[in-house]
Amino acid sequence: MNDVNVRPASVAQAGAIARIHWDSWVATYGGIFPKQMFDEFPLAQREALWAREAALNADTARRRHLLVAEVGGHLVGFASVGPYRIQDSDAASAALDGELFAIYLDPHQQRRGFGRALWRASAAFLHAAGFDALRLWCIVGNEAEGFYRAMGALQVGTKAFDAHGTPLLENCYRAATH
Ligand SMILES: CC(C)(COP(=O)(O)OP(=O)(O)OC[C@H]1O[C@@H](n2cnc3c(N)ncnc32)[C@H](O)[C@@H]1OP(=O)(O)O)[C@@H](O)C(=O)NCCC(=O)NCCS
Repeated sequence: MNDVNVRPASVAQAGAIARIHWDSWVATYGGIFPKQMFDEFPLAQREALWAREAALNADTARRRHLLVAEVGGHLVGFASVGPYRIQDSDAASAALDGELFAIYLDPHQQRRGFGRALWRASAAFLHAAGFDALRLWCIVGNEAEGFYRAMGALQVGTKAFDAHGTPLLENCYRAATH
């Protein structure tokens, strides 16, 4: 594996993060999500979102973080973590967990161990922020489910997700952060 460096994202990287987010969405969800899902979350909106999140990395008291993975100074992926966004169907104890909100690699940089490096850094950040476990949601059928299971995550829930009239299912996975 090439040496990968995982570190906090900077605001200057927001455009490159948004590009990876978009390209990875197209490669992963292009045949699953209807066009409206892409239309309502365009590249410019993603760049603004990740610029806001990266700016907030400066607040060290915040239990939320945006991480990037770089190889030879080149961005290959990112992950976003923070306190779990509790759902109606969750037990109250779920509020004690952290969440992996997003983990996306450049489609040309997958299966090289970079996702594992981002996962480890994400879990370490959440552990240091006081979370013993993390949760995440993944569309059923996404190959990423195999990645999460390989990272030791167990499926703990399922919910329906209406993607502009396309009925989908999402699985919730949970893993220890240490
Ligand atoms: C999911 C993702 C972050 C994983 O990162 P990655 O760098 O490709 O994965 P790694 O190379 O670190 O894989 C680590 C291990 O996870 C497992 N794994 C990874 N991808 C897998 C897949 N598609 N199917 C089954 N197992 C997989 C394997 O056990 C792998 O170890 P191995 O390569 O030695 O067999 C990345 O593939 C990605 O960005 N996918 C598209 C976007 C996406 O779906 N994000 C998640 C949204 S919920």
